[in-house]
Formats: sequence, C-alpha cells, structure tokens
Amino acid sequence: MDLKNLMEQRHSVRKYLDRKIDEPIVEIIEKKVEEINSESGLNIKAVFDDKEGFDSKLAKYGKFENVSNFLILKGKGNNLSETCGYFGEKLVFELMQLGLGTCWVALTYNKKNIKKYIEPKENLIIVISFGYPENQGYTRKSKSKSQVSNVDENSPQWFVDGVNAALLAPTAVNQQKFMLKLVDDKVEAKAKFAPCAKIDLGIVKYHFEIGSGKDKSIWI
Ligand SMILES: Cc1cc2nc3c(=O)[nH]c(=O)nc-3n(C[C@H](O)[C@H](O)[C@H](O)COP(=O)(O)O)c2cc1C
Repeated sequence: MDLKNLMEQRHSVRKYLDRKIDEPIVEIIEKKVEEINSESGLNIKAVFDDKEGFDSKLAKYGKFENVSNFLILKGKGNNLSETCGYFGEKLVFELMQLGLGTCWVALTYNKKNIKKYIEPKENLIIVISFGYPENQGYTRKSKSKSQVSNVDENSPQWFVDGVNAALLAPTAVNQQKFMLKLVDDKVEAKAKFAPCAKIDLGIVKYHFEIGSGKDKSIWI
C-alpha cells in the first residue's frame, strides 16, 4: 500500500497482542532504525520485549496494554524535537508496512525504567510504542484546512493535498497546533506555543511532503 493510503488509515494504537515480534521483522526494524539514524544524526533505539518501559500507573490510565516494544527518540544537538518528529513519523510508516500498530507517547511511559537506554549527554525527546495491534485505533476530530493553513480557492492542488495530509498527522492530545502558509511557491511551517508542538511540527512536515509530493526544499 502506498504512503498516502497508509496515512488515511493510520490511527494511534495503544493495545497490542501479547506476542513477541517475529525475528525477521525485528531484523528489518533494526536495519531501518540504523538507516534513519545515519540520515538524521539521531540515535533512535528500538527496544524489543521489555515490559518495564510501560510499567506505570500513567500507562494504564492512558489505556495502554501489552506494550513491550518501543522506539526511544533521542540524540544530541539542536532542533531535536522537530527532527525526532519528522524521522519518527517516517519510522511509524515503516512499522505500519510491517503490519504493526504505533502510538507516539510523551507522558504515559516509565521514564525511570528506560533511563538505562539513554547514553551520556543524550536528550530523550519522546517514545513510540509499537506491536501487533489488538485494534486499529479510532477516528477522531480534525480541524479544517482553513484553521491550519492559508489555503483558498486559488491554491495549487499540491498545497491542498499537502495540507490534507498534514491534518492526518498525529499530534499531542490531537491539538493540531500548527500553521502552514503558502508564500509564493514555498511553504512556511510554524508551531504554535504548546507542549510537544515542535515534535508535532516535524510529524506534520513529513505528512505534508508525502501528501504534496514535494521534498524538503519546499520549506522556507
Ligand atoms: C507528540 C505526541 C505525543 C503524544 N503523547 C501521547 C501520550 O503521552 N499518551 C497517549 O495516549 N497518546 C499520546 N499521543 C497520541 C495522540 O493522542 C494522538 O496522536 C491524537 O489523539 C490523534 O489521534 P490519532 O493518532 O489516532 O490520529 C501523542 C501524539 C503525539 C504526536
């Protein structure tokens, strides 16, 4: 299935089957993570078969079940939040293509229990849980195109398509606090002031690029 169709189908999955990830799939994930790390300069770590990372009251409150696999998005340097958002979402679709469900998680994991995976001087930005899905997640409300962009009847189709794909992006508490402005033939993307909004922005930019068919050179 192509990425645009996958974007339409994606929802956060918080309940997983109590089943280990098959070994060949583990190998594919490790390889993808390695590729994304060398592309992005991040040091994302894939953790398999560790139930302690989500062993917390918050996780239960957040309705997570059987989480034993997760990606830890971390690294050193500047602009980490947006970079983690962009490349984390790229991995989300790699995982979906392997038949796995995912959920971005800023709060509802056990920070203490995953400390052992963080190397000196690294910043932990966020986690993505994944596993064989027990369900496919749920539809949710969305803002309209005009609430998140300057789209109008004269906008080129690629911009409209990009904004539509951006509206399908997961954002923290479904806040969708971003703005996409077409300025001549480029796009300005801004995060509003809100928790995790910079991570959201990276995710949104990834969606926009896929939806519009443009590459990174589209951004102002
Ligand atoms: C940066 C970020 C942080 C998130 N943190 C959490 C979290 O801590 N707990 C949780 O249950 N869901 C979390 N989510 C998932 C969002 O609630 C979810 O993406 C949003 O409600 C939209 O739903 P959808 O992903 O099904 O489209 C997070 C999503 C993002 C992008």
